Amino acid sequence: MKLLVIVPLCVLFTLTQQSAENCVCEFAQSEKSFPHDKLKTAQAAASDCNSNLTPQKTVELESLLLGLHHRLPQLEKDVSMLEKEDDGELYGVLSLYVIENEMTEIKQLMDKLNSTALERELLTADTTQRLQDLREEMQELETFDTMQVVKRQQANQRLRRDLEQCKNGLHPTQQPTKPPHGTCPYGQLLNITEPRVYTAGEYPGSYKYGAWGRDPKPEAGKESWHWLIMMTSSNRYAHYVRFYSTLSSLIIGVSVPGNILIHSSNPATNTIQGPNNVLYGGALYYNCYNKDAVCRFNLTTKSITTVELPKGTRYNSKGNFCHLDECYPYTDLDLATDESGVWVIYTTTQDFGNLVLSKVEEGEPPKLGQTWHTSVYKLAVTNTFMACGVLYATRYVSKEVEEIFYSFNTVTGKERFNIGIFIKKLAPNIEALNYSPVDQMLHAYCDSYMVSYKVLFELMDDQSWS
Ligand SMILES: *[C@@H]1O[C@H](CO)[C@@H](O)[C@H](O)[C@H]1NC(C)=O
Ligand SMILES: *[C@@H]1O[C@H](CO)[C@@H](O)[C@H](O)[C@H]1NC(C)=O
Ligand SMILES: *[C@@H]1O[C@H](CO)[C@@H](O)[C@H](O)[C@H]1NC(C)=O
Repeated sequence: MKLLVIVPLCVLFTLTQQSAENCVCEFAQSEKSFPHDKLKTAQAAASDCNSNLTPQKTVELESLLLGLHHRLPQLEKDVSMLEKEDDGELYGVLSLYVIENEMTEIKQLMDKLNSTALERELLTADTTQRLQDLREEMQELETFDTMQVVKRQQANQRLRRDLEQCKNGLHPTQQPTKPPHGTCPYGQLLNITEPRVYTAGEYPGSYKYGAWGRDPKPEAGKESWHWLIMMTSSNRYAHYVRFYSTLSSLIIGVSVPGNILIHSSNPATNTIQGPNNVLYGGALYYNCYNKDAVCRFNLTTKSITTVELPKGTRYNSKGNFCHLDECYPYTDLDLATDESGVWVIYTTTQDFGNLVLSKVEEGEPPKLGQTWHTSVYKLAVTNTFMACGVLYATRYVSKEVEEIFYSFNTVTGKERFNIGIFIKKLAPNIEALNYSPVDQMLHAYCDSYMVSYKVLFELMDDQSWS
């Protein structure tokens, strides 16, 4: 692939002060090398603006400029990091991620500047357009598969630096806005992007079956944690959840805080059976070992409660997801999350193998809520997920393509068999698939790879930047 980068350079603003001093707006885009001199000029300009501020200027403006002044060296540092990771072909997705965050924060600062009456006159619309263009470029870059170039040492350095920043609390990252519980802020699902994350993680190629994701309703302080469950025994069972403090650490395989054990041995009572599990509200929901029931494992108290499924529910690999050539063993129960909480998708004898969908009420103890019966045959489905109260089912098209072909709307009861949205695969089989309502990402576990896609809806939240 050709080396095309694209380095974001800021920026910033044109200040026309009454004293006729001008701070210059700089924007640089480069095919290949990063224009450090231009960044320095922009930095100097920001610095000048800052020092030239007189006490008459608002305190707010001053602090915003100061903020901007601090962001620029950080951005330069991150861009140098990105350059170091260049192996002649691609840049590290991690650095892009970090730099995109930088851009987000700078954009936020710009927005604040814009929103004050004083700055409204000073910030040019042109700059806004350029930032918008940059954002699009960064998003494109994000889709590159760059795992070969992610070097552990550099990533570790970065993690340490991020940790320092967090400790110092200098640059708090804005939390994604959460849609109100039980309602869906989005319209129809329109499409799925190309893969946004693609990683072999910590155990490349070791476990074909598994699942990963993030808790949509995390406990305080665990907002950016990601979890991974691998079927470590016979492709069927798991007895622990592995945690990573951020997406970056999951990608480079640095697990802090490590494992939370459900049981010391495997398989045993309460073992996780099958890959389609979810984490929600600090608890893991999964198919309990050798049972037609959902287990809920409270990660804090380590206690387990179960939700019985209706009589006739197929379990122990008797109601699996399949395609023409293969069934995925022990995929009887598929747990799912969406904006309204936890769901379970399964099939029963009395439904003749068609998919059944039930809400899992998260109370104490958890209970089976409302249930819907569909007319789609589970053996013809490779996986399912929930988004905004709608059940979606996929089928295998080829090694490279999976199709979202079916939907069931729980609000209207309407079924559709003609969805026709295609998912680009980077490995032939999807063993687990789940939607994350926090960031509208679709997390897939594909033959030991962790892949994620952005779900595109009819109406997107304007504020979402990633
Ligand atoms: C800046 O403010 C103007 C006037 O309020 C508004 O029209 C414009 O959309 C704003 N730009 C940004 C990037 O927020
Ligand atoms: C959906 O997304 C894929 C991958 O980004 C793209 O190739 C395709 O053209 C999109 N389809 C529609 C209908 O927009
Ligand atoms: C886990 O247990 C703690 C302590 O009893 C409780 O406060 C918390 O709500 C439980 N979490 C879930 C998801 O049940």
